[in-house]
Amino acid sequence: MIDTHSHILPELDDGSKSVDESINMLKVLKEQGITHVIATPHFKMTDSKTSIDDFLVKREESYQKLIKEIEKQGLDLPKISLGAEVLLTMDLIEANDINRLCIENTDIMLIELPYYEWQSWIFRMLYNLCDDNFIEPIIAHVDRYVDFISGDIYEQLFSLGYKAQVNAEFVDKKAAYKKLKKWLKSGQICYVGSDAHGFDFRPPTFDNYFKKIKKIAGDSFIKNVEEHSAKLIKKLEK
Ligand SMILES: [Fe+2]
Repeated sequence: MIDTHSHILPELDDGSKSVDESINMLKVLKEQGITHVIATPHFKMTDSKTSIDDFLVKREESYQKLIKEIEKQGLDLPKISLGAEVLLTMDLIEANDINRLCIENTDIMLIELPYYEWQSWIFRMLYNLCDDNFIEPIIAHVDRYVDFISGDIYEQLFSLGYKAQVNAEFVDKKAAYKKLKKWLKSGQICYVGSDAHGFDFRPPTFDNYFKKIKKIAGDSFIKNVEEHSAKLIKKLEK
């Protein structure tokens, strides 16, 4: 099983604060049956003033620091692949060679939608970005918007046909699985992530997910997630 969304890289964004914390997060994920983790540090074009080049250099430095310590200690931990959680902003379309933010070896990008009611430009922008650059998006944590996004607007998002991800903690949010029921069943929500930031904020836990998911979303959802998980792992290992 793959954790498709995590802030596991140390000292990079608001995620893991140290190499030790990253290693402990990986240990906890391994104990829960996670074999692969995609590191998805935040990429925000607008307020970071960070170019993709700068972001990739910093990401690589953080990754190397972590990997060297894992190797030094001889630990057997989940395999880390590099990606990003790319916030959809208006200026993203001007970014240079944006495909570099896709998950390594793939044309798949984890895209985070803004935290206000999605207007039509959001959908246009998302479509243009993906269509122009041949990107296959995964819409990040669609469970986190249920308090202010109506069913009709979710309907518009899912009518684009894109795949989506839920945070494992969604099983504890009745409003989330009630509103997303249709797409949990349709197969469009097919990735699960911890979105773990560390032990203080959103810890890397899948425990409740594994306990509750069958009752909440049923066998077809589990099968679909497992299939997408296996396909993604295969792509990453090419
Ligand atoms: Fe995240």
